[in-house]
This record gives sequence, structure tokens and C-alpha cells, in this order.
Amino acid sequence: MLKFNLFSIFIGMFKQFQDTFTFDDVLLVPQKSEILPKDVKIHTYLTREIKLNAPFLSAPMDTVTEHEMAIKMALAGGIGIIHKNLSIDDQVAEIRKVKRFENGFVKNPMTAHPSDPMSKIIQIRNKFGYKKVPIVDNDGVLVGFISDIDYLMLPDNDEHKVLDFMFPVQKMNVGYEGMSLKEAYQMIQKFRLRTLCIVDKNNKLVSIVTRRDLEKSLLYPNSSKDSTKQLLVGGAIGVGINGIERAENLLKAGTDVLIVDTAHGHSRGVIDTVKEIKRKWSGVQVIAGNIASSDAAKDLIDAGVDALKVGIGPGSICTTRIVAGIGVPQLSAIMEVVKGVYNSQRKVPVIADGGIKSSGDVVKALAVGAMSVMMGNMFAGTDESPGRIEYTNGRMYKVYRGMGSIDAMEFGSKDRYGQAEIKEKQKFVPEGVSGRVAYKGSVSTILYQLEGGLRSGFGYNGARNISELQKRAHFVKITGSSLKESHPHDLKEVSSAPNYSID
Ligand code: XMP
Repeated sequence: MLKFNLFSIFIGMFKQFQDTFTFDDVLLVPQKSEILPKDVKIHTYLTREIKLNAPFLSAPMDTVTEHEMAIKMALAGGIGIIHKNLSIDDQVAEIRKVKRFENGFVKNPMTAHPSDPMSKIIQIRNKFGYKKVPIVDNDGVLVGFISDIDYLMLPDNDEHKVLDFMFPVQKMNVGYEGMSLKEAYQMIQKFRLRTLCIVDKNNKLVSIVTRRDLEKSLLYPNSSKDSTKQLLVGGAIGVGINGIERAENLLKAGTDVLIVDTAHGHSRGVIDTVKEIKRKWSGVQVIAGNIASSDAAKDLIDAGVDALKVGIGPGSICTTRIVAGIGVPQLSAIMEVVKGVYNSQRKVPVIADGGIKSSGDVVKALAVGAMSVMMGNMFAGTDESPGRIEYTNGRMYKVYRGMGSIDAMEFGSKDRYGQAEIKEKQKFVPEGVSGRVAYKGSVSTILYQLEGGLRSGFGYNGARNISELQKRAHFVKITGSSLKESHPHDLKEVSSAPNYSID
């Protein structure tokens, strides 16, 4: 026994220590450039098959991403990943809210029959929030329409039938199946419609298109959408049978991508879960993580992932490195994983997850090979993040907590840290903390500043897009005094700047 111990110590003496770096350890050297920030293209690949118009993801954390955040992320060209500290039903409902938000053609809209009592229309409004109800006969043929304006005059009782109040189809402008969304929108504009009903050649109702959606798509031309023009959204799942059950439900709800969300992606549970998802639903896009080595990249690629998520311990609320002594400084971790992808036959995009403090960090993450960046802290404390505003000494805050914090683990995220079996709160070994961040207003302002900083960074590098940035990027290592020089200094106070935090 003693012999074995001495032998282990001997082996330990020969361990090598590799130099590693994170965002604050380096800077990008400016390059000769003809590129103006406005000419930069920031579109990217989230997975092998899903494109984004901006490389931003909001983290699947219970103080960051539910439907409100996911909607704003997708409208800005990125994507939000709905967290899994929810029952399956609640997570499904969150995904549905995002998918329903901006519909192009709303397929299978809720309908009523002409002989239904008017109370059915009121029920549809109260229960589902739909104020525009197409009226169809027994064969599904469109016969009329109740619009939101009609509500002002609607009697809420069973004496009146829908037939007496509906706008008859003979007086409606109707679109035909096969028309493009653009043509549908042209009809909406031409006839000043609030809703256009689309019918097939037998006059059966197929879908509707609304003016509100038209306005939204004009306001947000870069939003990330699927082929039916619905906003993109992702859903987090765990490993094993529970993860597969959750995956099945999220897919039915319309999630565009599944993220197997764990603290240790290079593990049997994650690899087997990825394989099982791919076996059951081969076309589904799956992201897995988190990892920090090229070996992990290779094993997950072999299992069938469509993108890899990198980050062991860089997050602002993470304590994994302190609790377990485990982690790799984030910039080096991204580079290692990118190397693993480079050496694999099947190429997949890499997502840098955690540790982002500013738009400059996003530029650095992309420059070393990431294709997109996931953020928690950056988007926490906004109007769109779950949770209430708290007031202390006249200042406004919102809670931001790690999914490995005791508070979050109690709500269900213990499986992310391999502690699913533990029942008592006192027995958790947390790998994250809970804290507060300053209230920041709308996340749209943050996204605007992030995009602006990104464009500026690309411009300094003379890069038109992410792949040019990765080819042209030239880094220098910096010292602690250089970092001090990088931040505002020698001022009595720093006035607030939207893209610079002085916390
Ligand atoms: P930022 O820096 O954006 O990081 O706040 C968000 C990412 O941190 C990860 N995460 C955790 N990591 N303990 C950890 O070690 C935790 O409690 C925890 N919660 C979240 C996660 O990858 C997230 O996207």
C-alpha cells in the first residue's frame, strides 16, 4: 500500500503545467482595414444545420431564460435556451409561447362553428388569448370571421349564435394556399386587413396571417426564424430516461434544438443521451456540453452532436474551480475544443459559454474559433429575465443565481451537477452561488450594444465576417498593468456607459 502511494507521488512530480489564457490575458492587435462596422456580417451557425443572424445565446438558467428572454433573443437574431428547472409541462408552455409569438402562417388556428354560442368565442379569448377567430363549417370550409373589433359588441351568453355576429366569407378578402408570406402581407397592406385567412382550392381553412406579425417582421428584419417563419428557440434537457422524456415533449412543442445541459459533458451519461436522441430522432439538432478538452470534443462528435458547448468554471456565478479544483481558463478551453473539432472528420460549431463581461470578450471568443457565445450574467437583471426587481438603498437589482447554487439545485438543477439522488438541501455540494445584479432595463439595449461592439471589433480586424475574423486575428498576451491600462483609469468617477460595467 505504502509502495503504491510513494509511486503515485513520484508520477505526480513529472506532471507538466500548460500555459493557459482567458479573455483578460490577451488583446487583439488592430489590422489594416477597409471594413466599416455597418458592413460587417455577424450571421453564424449555431449547429450544423441551424443558422443565426447574430452569435448570441441566452443561458438556460432560471434567472435568465424563459419565453420573454427567448423572444427578444430571437428577434435580435440570436436564440434563447429555455431552462429546465421547470416541470416538463411548464417548459413546454414556455417553448410554445416563443413559437407562437411571431407566426408567419399560423397553421391550425383555433376556430368556431356558426352554430356555436357566442360564449365559445369569449372562452377562446379568455383561455387562449386569441381574439381573431375564423368560423368554419363541419367540413372545415371557411364561412366567416369574428375579429378583435367585434369584441366590443359581443354578447357573452348562449342565446346568440356565432352565425348572427360573424363577418360572412362573401365580404372577406381571402388568400389562397401556396401564396408566399410576402404576397400575403401585400394583401394585408392593400386591403388594410388585420387578419388574412388562407384557404385551399376547396375553400377549406388552412391558416391565417396577421397584420401584427407583419409589423413585427418589419421591425425585426434580422430575427432568427424557422422555415415556417416562427422564432427559433432551444430547450435544455438532462441525461438518461428523464432527459429523453423531456426531449420528446420539447420536440412536440416545436423546439428547434435540444441542449444536453450538464456541468461535465465528457461523461458517459451525456454521450449515451446524445446517442439515444440521435437514434430516436436522427434529424434533431443536439448540442452537448460543457467541455474543455479536444478529447471531449472528439467523443461527443463521435456520439453525434451537432454543436459543442465549452466552459468549465468561467461563469460569473460558478465555483466549480474552487470546489472541485477543475476547469480550464476559457480562451484556452475554446481553443482546445476547436482543435478537437479541427481534427475530427465531422465538423461542428463551437459555442463559448460563460465568463463574458463585455462585447470585447465576445470578439475574442469568436476570434479563437467559437461560432457563437452563450451568456448569463450579461442578460440577467433585465426586464426579460425571470424574477422581481428588488430595491436596496434606492437602487434596483434582480437576483442572478448559478444553476449549481443551493437555491437553484433545490428547484431541480441538482442533476446538472450529478447530485440528482440527494434529497436534503443540507447535503448538496453547491458549485455555484446566488447573488444580485443591477437592474438593466430592456435586454434589447444590451443586445444593441453587444452587436455594436462586435461590429467595431470586426472593423478593427479588417474582417467582414466571423470566418475572416478567425483567419485574420492576431493576439498579444498582456500583463496585469496592461489590463489596468485597458480600463478607464485616473478619473475621480466614471459616468455610466451602456457597454461598460464598473461593478
Ligand atoms: P456567465 O459568466 O455568463 O456564465 O454568468 C453563465 C454560464 O455559467 C454556467 N453555470 C454554472 N457553472 N456553477 C457552474 O460551475 C453554476 O452554478 C452555474 N450556473 C450556470 C452555465 O454554463 C451558464 O451558461
